[in-house]
Amino acid sequence: MKHLLSIEDLNNQDVGDLFHIATKYLNETSQILLGKTIINVFFENSTRTLTSFEIAAKKLGGRVINISVPHSSMKKGETIADTIATLVEIKPDFVIIRSSYSGVIQSLLNARMNCVFINAGDGYHEHPTQALIDAFTILSLKKKLSGLKVAICGDILHSRVSHSNIILLSKLGAEVRVISPPNLSLKYLHAGVKVFDDIQECLKDVDVIIVLRLQYERMKGTYVSSQAEYYKMYGIDHQKISYAKQDVIVMHPGPINRGVEISSEIADSDRHSAILKQVEFSIPMRQAVFDFFNSNI
Ligand code: NCD
Repeated sequence: MKHLLSIEDLNNQDVGDLFHIATKYLNETSQILLGKTIINVFFENSTRTLTSFEIAAKKLGGRVINISVPHSSMKKGETIADTIATLVEIKPDFVIIRSSYSGVIQSLLNARMNCVFINAGDGYHEHPTQALIDAFTILSLKKKLSGLKVAICGDILHSRVSHSNIILLSKLGAEVRVISPPNLSLKYLHAGVKVFDDIQECLKDVDVIIVLRLQYERMKGTYVSSQAEYYKMYGIDHQKISYAKQDVIVMHPGPINRGVEISSEIADSDRHSAILKQVEFSIPMRQAVFDFFNSNI
């Protein structure tokens, strides 16, 4: 049984196949999930990810069950392990999990679990389907990935999106640059990733800027002195994108915090913002993920 727990679970051929299937789903659909059951178990808040997994599965004919954690037996003291073991006995074909525990799915897997698990974000570990969406968005807008300069800006330390993106974009041949306040950087980075401490240098001539939120819910202690100070240093605004290529695109996995990591002017810019494109492409990309793993059941 194949699962999608980390972007490392996919090789370049798999990623190419997923892009190909997602492109197909931009214009057509299929009923490959007819008679299949998909359970979404989200232990953390979500707007985009939960909705798009649900829509993608339904478009493919799947039967979708969303477990509302506030109404589940978790509130009566049941552990994640017991909740998942119970749900697996309902015999789903796919279980989509979001949790604040890094590596949660890996720790739950056992031989009885005869279904595909998809990681929809685990703590600050990984968010593989968001990385696929982001790479697909860049490819659609820039027509290539190899050789592009991509800057990832913000709270790298707590961002599962950045961790999956760094691995995937590097594998696909992009030059990945990162910048964050020093205490929000990663100690160990993927080979080839360029670390900057000066925003002007980091953004110089980049094709893509991926902006990240300050993920307060994962911080233990104080990491930034004030949001105003952070915005001044790292917030992506008109002035800072002038260092990048003229046709730079600005991306953000959402939710965005205007005036903290990005200005409204850039977030809403028809010329530069690809933020809503990422949302649009989340449906065909997640349809592709279902299709790809369904063929591997
Ligand atoms: C992100 C997440 O939850 O990891 N959003 C998303 O899934 N689109 C990013 C975040 O919370 O900042």
